[in-house]
Amino acid sequence: MSNFNHESVLSVHHWTDTLFSFTTTRNPTFRFRNGEFTMIGLNVGEKRLLRAYSVASANYEDKLEFFSIKVPDGPLTSRLQHLKEGDEIIVSRKSTGTLVIDNLEDGRNLYLVGTGTGLAPFLSVIKDPETYERFEKVVLLHGCRRVAELAYGEMIAEKLPKDELLGDYVRSQLIYYPTVTRDPFRNRGRITDLITSGKLFADIGLPAFEPAMDRVMICGSPALVQDMRVLLTERGLVEGNHGEPAQFVVEKAFAER
Ligand code: A2P
Repeated sequence: MSNFNHESVLSVHHWTDTLFSFTTTRNPTFRFRNGEFTMIGLNVGEKRLLRAYSVASANYEDKLEFFSIKVPDGPLTSRLQHLKEGDEIIVSRKSTGTLVIDNLEDGRNLYLVGTGTGLAPFLSVIKDPETYERFEKVVLLHGCRRVAELAYGEMIAEKLPKDELLGDYVRSQLIYYPTVTRDPFRNRGRITDLITSGKLFADIGLPAFEPAMDRVMICGSPALVQDMRVLLTERGLVEGNHGEPAQFVVEKAFAER
């Protein structure tokens, strides 16, 4: 049996010149935990081009969703960005990843820190009822250069609060905090700076990070991941992993440069 399923593209949405999302059919045998990634790609002639992508849809949904950058000369994304309804992609039958709530100890507040397409794994985490059962407040931080790159903002701020399954949880527990660095916007600055200055906590009305209370998931560029790791370690939080739950977990966003 092949290690891959063939899925059909159902919709494509272009956010900007450099960012797009698409949905596909989902083979019902494909199981994953919210926050995990899988390998997806295309057969090009004799070759199979594959990259890791976080699954942006929740594990109870019947479609799969992926959020991608477009790299003009990237072997896979230069092709993927031209996907159209009805096209076929291949999706691994396996999923894996660190950004799952089982890798975190119990705590009071969960912070999800994503920059750019590093938002993707958290889109499934914020759609998981268990996230809200385990944590009192769920703070989703999305950092981008430009306002136009704040993909999914409307879904998070407008649609989710009205969702039949999740609306009650989202309205009382989810705090969405988008911030940009290179455009005027209501929230400005790098997430790391907003944490260090205390502005984030003043804005959302929660206390600064404390190892006994706060849990954090991080997904972004290698620089962001490293700077967040240092920042949290300095504040006494310990990094967790599979089989060793702790206070924060990290994953690099899967982008081609
Ligand atoms: P900045 O505009 O100051 O570089 P990128 O597209 O480069 O991944 O960046 C996405 C967002 O993450 C941008 O707002 C960027 O800010 C910010 N960013 C990049 N590197 C870091 C870092 N090391 N720590 C915090 N934020 C970062």
